[in-house]
Amino acid sequence: MKRDLISMLDVKDDLENIIDLSIQLKKKNKQDEKTHLLAGRTLGMIFEKSSTRTRVSFEVGMEKLGGHALFLSKNDIQMGRGETIEDTALVLSRYVDLIMYRAMSNKAMNELARFATVPVISGLDDKEHPCQVITDLMTIKEHKKSLKGLRFVYIGDGRNNMSHSYLLGCGIAGMDCVIVSPKKYWPDPYYVDEAKKFGIQVTVTDSVVESTKDADVIATDTWVSMGDEAQKEQRLKEFKGFTVTEDMMKKAHPDALFLHCLPAYYGYEVTKEVAHGPQSVIFDEAENRMWAQMGIMVTMMESM
Ligand code: CP
Ligand code: NVA
Repeated sequence: MKRDLISMLDVKDDLENIIDLSIQLKKKNKQDEKTHLLAGRTLGMIFEKSSTRTRVSFEVGMEKLGGHALFLSKNDIQMGRGETIEDTALVLSRYVDLIMYRAMSNKAMNELARFATVPVISGLDDKEHPCQVITDLMTIKEHKKSLKGLRFVYIGDGRNNMSHSYLLGCGIAGMDCVIVSPKKYWPDPYYVDEAKKFGIQVTVTDSVVESTKDADVIATDTWVSMGDEAQKEQRLKEFKGFTVTEDMMKKAHPDALFLHCLPAYYGYEVTKEVAHGPQSVIFDEAENRMWAQMGIMVTMMESM
């Protein structure tokens, strides 16, 4: 049975294996060892939204696995002119071995995965961003050695793809999760309930004061995700006071990490001092997208 990665729940049984494989692939490549585990395989990458990291990291990662990647912008393929997702999935599955899809909606993502006969990996949709959160957990593991029992605090848009995938990722990894967000942007309750099923403590609050106390990891994301542009002015007002600052970092453990999936908007969700400061691991995180996705692609291909 082919395996897809659309939600963090799709890796609930082997998240740590994927992370460890990714760390291994990183190590081997740094030692100039070849890791051609997907030699001769082709990845099709459909993009409905912009990307720097996802596009480049998948493409270069596939090359390091001995395979090949195709960039398919929605506007350049017939899907942009109305060819159905079903036909697109069925046709692409005849040419490529794996599909990566950055979708406008989770509905479209699920539809593509339903009809594709090859594994589909989400490169983000409006509900989740699993590749990024697997990467973030890998980055935390590299720095902290283990994940279980850590206190993870996310400040910002609690209802976006990163917040939802963090909730599930923390649950699977056994990390307590605090989401700090204006009430209007609290997470979809489904993700909070699913996270709690793993037995972790989940706190959702709109109180920024003291929220970073005892944190091992502090993360944020843009206040205006792709697709939310029409609400930009309103959001910038509503998120005022939720900027991650050096003062907030000081309240966390002295060795707490700062994470941001990027792109960052300095002065809004985080100050540049924090993002480029001593506790920030944002560029390790960006690099790790490539290694983590290599681990993910190899794992998904094992199902074929
Ligand atoms: N973090 C992330 O997914 O970045 P891109 O939008 O540049 O791919
Ligand atoms: N939440 C952001 C993540 C970008 C990588 C967005 O969806 O735009």
